[in-house]
Formats: sequence, C-alpha cells, structure tokens
Amino acid sequence: MQAIYISTLGVLAPFRKLGIGRMLLALILDLGCHCIVLHVPTTATEAQKFYVKHGFTNVKILEGYYKRPRSDAFLFVRSAINA
Ligand SMILES: CC(C)(COP(=O)(O)OP(=O)(O)OC[C@H]1O[C@@H](n2cnc3c(N)ncnc32)[C@H](O)[C@@H]1OP(=O)(O)O)[C@@H](O)C(=O)NCCC(=O)NCCS
Repeated sequence: MQAIYISTLGVLAPFRKLGIGRMLLALILDLGCHCIVLHVPTTATEAQKFYVKHGFTNVKILEGYYKRPRSDAFLFVRSAINA
C-alpha cells in the first residue's frame, strides 16, 4: 500500500480562500495514492474544516505532538476507500 505524508501545506494568510489550498491538494490527490496522512494543530480550526471538506477523517488526538510552541495535534487520514 502506498501512503503520502503531508508534512506542511500552507497558504499565506492574504491569499487564503482563493482556491490555492484546494489546487495544491488536487496535485497531491492526482498522484493516485491509497492513503494520505497529516497532522493538524488542534487550534487550526480552518485547516481542520478544509481537510474534512476534502474527505479526510480525524482519527486520533496526539497530546504534545508539537514541541515549540507546545500544542496537541489531530491525525487526519484520507484513504481511497473512504474518499
Ligand atoms: C488550510 C489551508 C492550506 C487552506 O488553504 P486555502 O488556500 O485557504 O484553501 P481554499 O481556498 O482552497 O479553501 C478554503 C475555503 O475557501 C473557500 N474558497 C475557495 N475559493 C474561493 C473563492 N474564489 N471565493 C471565496 N471562497 C473561496 C473554500 O470553499 C473554502 O471554504 P470553507 O472552508 O468555508 O469550505 C490554509 O487555511 C492554511 O494555510 N492554513 C494555515 C496552515 C495550516 O494550518 N496548515 C495545515 C497543517 S499541514
């Protein structure tokens, strides 16, 4: 099984909500992987909404995942099965 881990996907604040994030994600989805995995800070509610809208499921909370600044993370997964 092939899996992709997205370590960072960010759009500068003035350029958000213009479809750039969706376009970047589409490039990754076009790679045709079975499973895409990423972490999102629990405070990043916009990013969580974005990933849920694009078929990702929040499967787990990881306390203290980010060290500086200390923050918890959600683990999001999108598999070809639930996409
Ligand atoms: C998550 C993130 C990458 C999304 O990027 P983005 O470029 O804003 O994403 P999009 O523009 O494709 O979609 C975001 C919203 O804009 C809306 N949108 C897209 N094109 C639009 C347009 N032309 N006009 C108005 N709204 C539009 C989408 O429908 C979506 O709305 P919704 O959230 O209410 O459903 C961005 O918010 C970000 O960089 N966040 C900070 C970093 C982060 O937390 N990254 C995640 C950890 S890896």
